[in-house]
This record gives sequence, structure tokens and C-alpha cells, in this order.
Amino acid sequence: MTVRAAAKVNLVLGVGRVRADGMHPLDTVYQAVSLYDDVRASPSEQWEVAVRSVGDVDCSGVPLDEGNLAVRAGQLLAAHHGLDRAARLDIDKGIPVAGGLAGGSADAAAALVALDRLWQLRTSDEDLLDLAARLGSDVPFALLGGTAHGAGRGELVTPVADTGDHWWVVVPHDVGLSTPAVYGELDRLHPDAPAVPRSSEAVLAALLVGDHAALGAALHNDLEDPAVSLRPELGERLALVRSHHDGPVLLSGSGPTVLGLSPTHEHATATRGALLEAGVPVVHVVTGPVAGAHVVELAG
Ligand code: C5P
Repeated sequence: MTVRAAAKVNLVLGVGRVRADGMHPLDTVYQAVSLYDDVRASPSEQWEVAVRSVGDVDCSGVPLDEGNLAVRAGQLLAAHHGLDRAARLDIDKGIPVAGGLAGGSADAAAALVALDRLWQLRTSDEDLLDLAARLGSDVPFALLGGTAHGAGRGELVTPVADTGDHWWVVVPHDVGLSTPAVYGELDRLHPDAPAVPRSSEAVLAALLVGDHAALGAALHNDLEDPAVSLRPELGERLALVRSHHDGPVLLSGSGPTVLGLSPTHEHATATRGALLEAGVPVVHVVTGPVAGAHVVELAG
């Protein structure tokens, strides 16, 4: 049973003051884009994980034990049904690791769907979303895919109208960034941030009517400054992408991946060519919105 799950980008990521539980309130718009991890689930007596790199993804930081969110997803699903089961998970990683593209969340969502099918559990969508939210803030969106509004700590997702066909230039970085560290730096830089995050209204309005220029003007990420503060060379990377991309550029999630929005495939490919020529080693061109975690191959 193989399930595919997509990377996500945040078109807008508004972050409010840290809550009493240590998490931050978000007002965000997620979009699933065409960079994928595939998770194959097969029967096993104990939990096993193997990770294989697709293209140039460096998988050396991916845990191969219960620290892997996909294994935790499987354990949570089994516990939800009162089962004592394990499985083997083979993960083909096309999504850069620790890049702000929610690759680990994609694996967890894919594992939930794959194991639900493998074990023939028929878990309701509502229960799967609930289990996903317990695994991580971005996991419910990885199940849903498409374009969605995110609230709460990001786990409360609602699909939104998106008439567009969006192209993204995705520039990964070879050293990942820790999400908690970036949120911590935001708290340090802005101890008096408002409790209610900035609204994603302008992005939602632009998506509804398919206004590419208005969408570009509304893109924003509150985690960009703290990520650059932690990693000053990221500021140089953002400037380099801006100098070669005729369009909006922003940090993806908690970084360090940098994104450029393009109106067409040709436009994105031109930026990619210019960045490769400028010495950037890896640049992807992807499209969105694409589907959430879905079965691509049945077992047997
Ligand atoms: O939800 P998830 O486990 O992916 O979050 C990882 C870490 O990122 C959290 O432990 C927290 O430090 C930070 N985080 C946050 N506010 C959010 C989402 C994540 O502070 N809304």
C-alpha cells in the first residue's frame, strides 16, 4: 500500500503571541505543492522504517526509530482502535528535510492513510483529522491538501476556493532549521506581539478571484525575520533569489527553504535557470494546489 503526500507552502503565515501551552496562534493559508514523499506500508512484527532519497534530498537527519513522526502516526492509529500492531514503512523522500515544507507531517499523514487501508480499519475522516492534529500542527493539512485556511496552532483546517494555477520556485537550503528555535526567536524579537495574528483575508480574497498580482502583494511570513535573525546567511539567500526573480519572494514556513511565486511555468523555469547559473545548487519548479495524502499503489 503506497500513499503519496505533498509538501506545503504557506501563502501567508500570521503568528500571534505565544499561548499558555507554548504554541503560537496562527492565521495561515496553506497550499499543497507538487513535491512528494511516498510512504509504503507493509506487514511486520515490529516497527521498522527505511528512508530513501529521491533526487538530491539529504535524508541523513531523518530518524529511523520512534522519533519518526510516521511511526508515531502508526502507533497512534493502532492505539485509537485498541490494536497491538506494527508495520514496516518505506519512505521515498522528495521533500527536503527540515526545510519548512512539512515533509515530516506529509509522512505522518501518508502513514495514517496507508495503515488505515493496510489494516482495513475504515477510520472516519473526522477521526483521521483528529489523530493528525495530535501528531503535529501541519499534519491535518497534509491529509486535506489543496488550498486551505489554517487556524488554532495550524491544525484547524478549512478548504478554501482557489481558482488559480500557481507556480513556485523552491530553493532548498542544505542545512535545516529547527521550527521551535524559529518560534523562540520570534518571541525574543517581538515579546509584545498581538495575541491575534495578522489576518489572511487579503490572500483569501485574491485566491477567490484568481488575481495573481493581488496574491503576490499579499504574501507574507511572520517567521521570516526570526529565521534570518538566527541564520543571517538566509538574508543573503533571500536577496539572491529576489535579484533573479521578477516576482514575490518569501521564506517557506519556518525556513530555510525560499519560495518565489510565478504566474506561469515558463516564468518559474526562467528564474530556476538564472539561479542555477548564479551557483545555487538545487532549485525546484513546482505547481499547486495538488491533492492531499492519497493512495497511489495498492499492495500485492
Ligand atoms: O505542531 P508541531 O509539533 O509541528 O510543532 C513543532 C514545534 O513548533 C512546537 O513544539 C512549537 O515549539 C512550535 N510551534 C509553535 N506554534 C505553532 C506550531 C508550532 O510554537 N502554531
